[in-house]
Amino acid sequence: MPTAPTSTSISSTRESLASIETDLVVVPWFEDDAPDAVAGLDKASGGELARALAAKEFQAKAYELFVTPTTERGWKPRRIAVIGAGRRAECGRDVIRKVAVTAGIAARQKRVPRVAFVLRGQGDLTDLAQAAAEGLTLSEFNAGSYKTAEPSPPQSTWTIAAPSSTPDVLSRVNESVARGRILGESSNLARELANEPGNTLTPRKFAKRAAAIASEAGVRVEILDEHKIAELGMGLLLGVARGSSEPPRLIVFRYDPPGAPEKPVLGLVGKGITFDTGGISIKPAEGMERMKDDMAGGAAVACAMRAIALLQAPMRVIGVVPTTENMPGGRAIKPGDILTSAAGKTVEVINTDAEGRLILGDGLWYARQLGATHLVDVATLTGAVVVALGKTTSGLFGAPDEWVERIRKVAERAGDRAWPMPLYDDYREQLKSEIADMMNTGGRPAGSITAAMFLKEFTDNVPWAHMDIAGTAWADDAKPFLPKGPSGVAVRTLAELAFEKF
Ligand code: BES
Ligand code: MN
Ligand code: ZN
Repeated sequence: MPTAPTSTSISSTRESLASIETDLVVVPWFEDDAPDAVAGLDKASGGELARALAAKEFQAKAYELFVTPTTERGWKPRRIAVIGAGRRAECGRDVIRKVAVTAGIAARQKRVPRVAFVLRGQGDLTDLAQAAAEGLTLSEFNAGSYKTAEPSPPQSTWTIAAPSSTPDVLSRVNESVARGRILGESSNLARELANEPGNTLTPRKFAKRAAAIASEAGVRVEILDEHKIAELGMGLLLGVARGSSEPPRLIVFRYDPPGAPEKPVLGLVGKGITFDTGGISIKPAEGMERMKDDMAGGAAVACAMRAIALLQAPMRVIGVVPTTENMPGGRAIKPGDILTSAAGKTVEVINTDAEGRLILGDGLWYARQLGATHLVDVATLTGAVVVALGKTTSGLFGAPDEWVERIRKVAERAGDRAWPMPLYDDYREQLKSEIADMMNTGGRPAGSITAAMFLKEFTDNVPWAHMDIAGTAWADDAKPFLPKGPSGVAVRTLAELAFEKF
């Protein structure tokens, strides 16, 4: 099984562009920039930049690249790349993050050893620096981890340039770059886990790898086996696991910084289905291979715990990841079966493919047992959320509204766009069972909402938010800033949340 490459740090500099020792200096370029917007750049290109702009060879459309050699003797960078960054007024951290990913991928593909990325854009320089560091780091992700014939291009070394900033500002830029590096790496680790197929990442292996990732950063990790899970009475997790010959695990993370207040305790819960066949309510064959990433929420929690510890967040954080396969074995649960949750509520299983909400029900309960005062869960939960919001935006659910809105804002900043959906009490009707406390599905209407309503039953009315990442965890089509494959969604949101005041 491939392991994460140990990454080097990203340096920052306040030198002028002309004096940076690098192979390629990358400058974000705005559609509304004048040809001389960056002093000396056009001259260094021997007039190529102004010519390309005039000829509309380069129009600075988002993520468009134009590369040209430097012709001026006094210039140290061997080549210049301008990269389209849209209109200046709209270029904040989100655009810079994506521009940096795009430039990073291009530079690596062209095997450029040293790249300097110049900070330009709206807002705080330190925010742009963090976003650029995140983006360059995200560009290092390699989805072809099992390719033996064509090794992936070597990693470039990155420098982030904030020309003519004061030493004071540069030291803050430096800190932001280090922060962005850790968040980017943690996202990439989650992507690696989500990319891992079901046979190399069974629940036991997932637990071991997640534990290694988090404990290396100083997080306390405990892996509960099927016996411990039974002692806790987690009938929902055990029920889903019945169809598989692989035993389930419950991964528990604890981050307790010295001197942190008793409260709040942030509780992060992630869905850890290492492969979802649907169980007896089996899925169609076409596209089923995608269901190897049904633990992307669990990976996000594990890797966010890593980032939280490395960045030394000031609050206590608990992570809970129930993990199992969802298989149609001879002992599998069947439609109509009744399961009893650790919280005591009984569930009539209508569809065994609605397994995520089952394992999360026990997971949310356990996070509360461990003292979480505020809950956030992340799960590739429903196909319905993809119908509602598509592939770029996660569904956001929860209560109260202020808590949900806080998550939305943090997610937006982190580049994990999420949009709130309603949880009116009426929707609860759809889960009513004749025989038990509730059913595990509510039919086709409002499918992602009824899934969230199911989870709400296990939150004990503490502030809780649920991110449905079924559409956002995996890119089906390559974008300049996001190759096909796992996206690492929610890692940065969960990590940044541990720095909020609530
Ligand atoms: N893991 C799936 C949801 C999913 C679908 C993730 C597509 C990514 C892409 C989940 O366990 C599931 O199967 N949900 C069912 C629920 C239904 C049976 C109520 C669904 O969405 O079809
Ligand atoms: Mn399913
Ligand atoms: Zn699933």
